[in-house]
Amino acid sequence: MTYAPFPYARPRRLRRTAALRAMVSEATLTPADFIWPVFVMAGKDAEEPVSSMPGVVRRTVDRIGAAAREAHALGIPAMCIFPYTDPTLKTEDCAEAWNPDNLSNRAIREIKNACPEIAVMTDIALDPYNINGHDGYVEDGEIVNDRTVEALVKMGLAQAEAGADILGPSDMMDGRIGALREALEDEGHSDIAILSYAAKYASAFYGPFRDAVGASGALTGDKKTYQIDPANGNEAMAMIARDLSEGADMIMVKPGMPYLDICRRAKDDFGVPTFAYQVSGEYAMQQAAALNGWIDGDKVMLESLIGFKRAGCDGVLTYFAPAAARLLANG
Ligand code: PBG
Repeated sequence: MTYAPFPYARPRRLRRTAALRAMVSEATLTPADFIWPVFVMAGKDAEEPVSSMPGVVRRTVDRIGAAAREAHALGIPAMCIFPYTDPTLKTEDCAEAWNPDNLSNRAIREIKNACPEIAVMTDIALDPYNINGHDGYVEDGEIVNDRTVEALVKMGLAQAEAGADILGPSDMMDGRIGALREALEDEGHSDIAILSYAAKYASAFYGPFRDAVGASGALTGDKKTYQIDPANGNEAMAMIARDLSEGADMIMVKPGMPYLDICRRAKDDFGVPTFAYQVSGEYAMQQAAALNGWIDGDKVMLESLIGFKRAGCDGVLTYFAPAAARLLANG
């Protein structure tokens, strides 16, 4: 954008009224930009608050269909399921991860029954089922890669069988996208999309999520041997290139707001469907400030979300999805 010299150019001319501002607005935000992450738990007809994420609840599987219909009515196209797994089901071999009747797989079927229009996305990583809270198997204190990939493939196939539309590998093991894509082709699931968490950073912003899925207590150490160093941008581009070459259909940058430069670079370099995950810590910070009256929560919510669109994202996973969709509907 170039302007004539002042006073011929007065950029404020186009900011003068709401109508003029609307005419020249660059990015747009609609409910179709949102993927809504939801937490499911065992039990019947119940929900409980996640204390570190005010406004977010865990729901029993039988209540997830109603949530899906609500999302659809609001114009939200997709939901992503995360399970709160009973600690007694967490084991060293993580077998619950590919149980066809685990919480996630039951929730997938429930959503597809209640509201087939909603696209169901899953998370693939062993952490909800792992006795030590890691995304991969731990042997002698090391997170091992290849054996983990075999387990992740079993987990992804079980989700595909349950009816998932989009698989979301969030584990950051090497070679998992190719292995998963090959297994999906072999098992008759060639239509299922993979949204790879290609640029997933070793972030402290995941703290409240680990509470929400009950993984905080279990986790020993950190995830720095598999998630990306927050200092690195070129490495994230290389991870995206690799995952695309192995058969990913879409890619994700995670967390969101501290990594908007990565979103922009990803979109400019690859031009593929690009998503950001506005993670639990980002949500918690905004909600905490809003609940204290320190910021206008609604305005900051929408500003934070349009930022992702301006940065080149096609959409955003956000716990704000229903609240933001409601705000957008009410103008
Ligand atoms: C699991 C996973 C995590 C998140 C999504 N999938 C946590 C982690 O990697 O420790 C975090 C999401 C959030 O913070 O909202 N691998």
